[in-house]
Order: sequence, then structure tokens, then C-alpha cells
Amino acid sequence: MSQLQQRKDDHLRICLEEEVGSDISTGLGGYRLEYDALPEIDLVDVDLRVELLGRSLQAPILIGSMTGGSERAGEMNKRIARAAAKVGLGMALGSQRAMIPHPELRETYAVRDAAPDLPLLIGNIGAVQLRHGLGHKELASLVNDVQADALYFHLNPLQEAIQPEGDTEFRGLKAMMAEYVEALPFPCLAKEVGAGISEKTAKKLAGIPFAGIEASGVGGTSWARVEGYRAPSQSVSAQLGERLRGFGTPTAHSIQHCRQHFSERCVIGSGGIRTGLDIAVAIALGADAVAIARPVLEAAHQSEEACEQYLTNLLHELRVICFCTGAANIQELRNVRLLTH
Ligand SMILES: Cc1cc2nc3c(=O)[nH]c(=O)nc-3n(C[C@H](O)[C@H](O)[C@H](O)COP(=O)(O)O)c2cc1C
Repeated sequence: MSQLQQRKDDHLRICLEEEVGSDISTGLGGYRLEYDALPEIDLVDVDLRVELLGRSLQAPILIGSMTGGSERAGEMNKRIARAAAKVGLGMALGSQRAMIPHPELRETYAVRDAAPDLPLLIGNIGAVQLRHGLGHKELASLVNDVQADALYFHLNPLQEAIQPEGDTEFRGLKAMMAEYVEALPFPCLAKEVGAGISEKTAKKLAGIPFAGIEASGVGGTSWARVEGYRAPSQSVSAQLGERLRGFGTPTAHSIQHCRQHFSERCVIGSGGIRTGLDIAVAIALGADAVAIARPVLEAAHQSEEACEQYLTNLLHELRVICFCTGAANIQELRNVRLLTH
């Protein structure tokens, strides 16, 4: 097994077995949606459907970027994709870097083979890979080989700095991303991996013709902490992973910065989205949709059916919240008043 495959399995194991939360609040709990005891709509008429990147979803929810690249990861991806397709939600893949030196690993990412009806599929690559010679041809084949609709460039300096074998050469990435995003024939989006997008970062990324951005703020899975577990115990990286587990921009702020600077472009709220209420607040703060990662993995680890049930329950909760705020659809949910006291 290559180092890349081993790392994928380490990430899955640690995320399923260890305490990997950031221990910091997402900030979403600081807001209350204005309740409406006289909504004047029927619960059954609430319409959760949205258009995202030109695709129709049954609700504004994506399964966040997680995995691929090992046998176990491939099995998780297939379970998740089938569950997401049944419920009518979108899905993102984990970093496809392993596919470049090992084209035979395509199968572990090719979720459309297992779930041809998946309404939206987004590929994923670390932006820092552009510094290692990744070019237009490789980026295009990452998307085409798995029939994805779009590509995420993930930005993860904190994770890379703590990862024992991490890539920390971020100089010049903004210009490189701008060049590729402009030239690639499919929509590209930027994302963090759980340390969030600050105002400073949002401003810089807004200058690149990304189709959208995913907030991935602090409050959910901490990748500083995950990498800390992979480092030898008592090592500086292990200690740093624990100490910096809450470092970054909380999800609520991250969503607001993304919305402010990406005005009409697609904004996906993520990082610690766990409940229908989190989804509703993220949307009222300006997200077009949300992405949920680790809880979906935990459900898929049990079974495909458990994953489908988890997603179905989330949709039901979101529908109840829309009903009780008088929002007949997601557009109206965006306009529900948020109270801070
Ligand atoms: C097992 C696992 C693997 C992940 N791998 C990737 C990855 O390869 N690329 C990426 O952009 N984000 C990756 N992420 C980060 C998630 O997409 C997300 O940004 C982060 O976990 C916060 O969301 P959560 O709190 O819902 O887990 C991964 C998350 C998990 C749980």
C-alpha cells in the first residue's frame, strides 16, 4: 500500500475512532430563526429543492469532500453516493491526488458507476499540488475520469503544517489558481477543510473566477487534530494538533465573509453542520447550500441504509423548521429574520 493510500485509511480510522472535534462552537448557535406560530402554509407544501451549479437537488445539502484512494475509502464512497442519489443530494469526493500516480485507483472515486443518478458530483484536489507540477491536463482528467460536474481546490495550510509529511509551499498559489480556474472548462470552487475562510482570505479568493466557495469553518472536524493523531505521540506535531484544534474562523463568520465577497456566486456553508437547525441558520446567514462531512461518514460506516436514513431525517428536520418559520421554500428561508438575543 502506498503512503497516499495508507494516509487515506489513517484519516478514515481516526475520524471514526478518535475525538476529532475542534471544541470551539461554529457560532451558528448564537442565532435564532424567528419562529412563526401562524405560518399560513402546509407542512407538506414546503419545497426544499434548489438549483446548485446548474443541477437540481432535493434539498440544499451536499455530502462534504472526504475520501477515495483506498479499498475501504472506495466502499465508503459507494455507500455514500447511493444514499445521496436516493435522497437526491449532491456529493463531493475527497482529494483525488492519489489517482495521478495510481490511475488504477480511479475505481475508488468513480461513484457514478455505482450511483448513475447522483445529481451533482464535485471532484477535489489540494491547491498546493499546483506547486508540484499538476497542470491543466491532469486537472481536466481528474474531473472527466469520474464524470464530475465541478472541481474543488482545497486550501489547508494548517493541516499541511501539522501533517508529518505535509506540503507547505503555498507561495504563488493565488496566481496559479487564477490561471487554471480561468482556463478549465468546468466550474471550480475553493474550500477550506475546517479552519475557515477569514475576511482576508475571502477577499483574495474573490479575485479568482471561482464559481463558488465552501466556508468549512471551525466548529466541526479539526484537521489539525486529525493530523496530530497521526504524528508520533508526544511529538511537537501531536501537541500542536491539540493546541491548534480550534484555530481559524468559526463557520458562522466564515459563511458571512464568503457571502460578502462572493456576492452572486455560490456559497456553501460547512464545518460542524450537524442538524437541520444548523442548515437553516447557515442558509439564513447567506449560504446557498451546506456540506456535511464526518457525520455522513459515521452513518455510512454503519451501512448504506443508515446513511440514507440519516440524510432523510435531516431533510425532515429542515422541512419542519421551514414550516415553523413560514418559509415555503429555500429562497424564503434565506429571508427569515435571525435574532441574536
Ligand atoms: C474522513 C474525512 C476526510 C476528508 N478529506 C478531505 C479531502 O480529501 N479534501 C477536502 O477538501 N476536505 C476533506 N475533508 C474535510 C471536509 O470536507 C470538511 O471540510 C471538514 O471535515 C469539516 O466538515 P465536518 O465538520 O462536517 O466534518 C475530510 C473530512 C473527513 C471527515
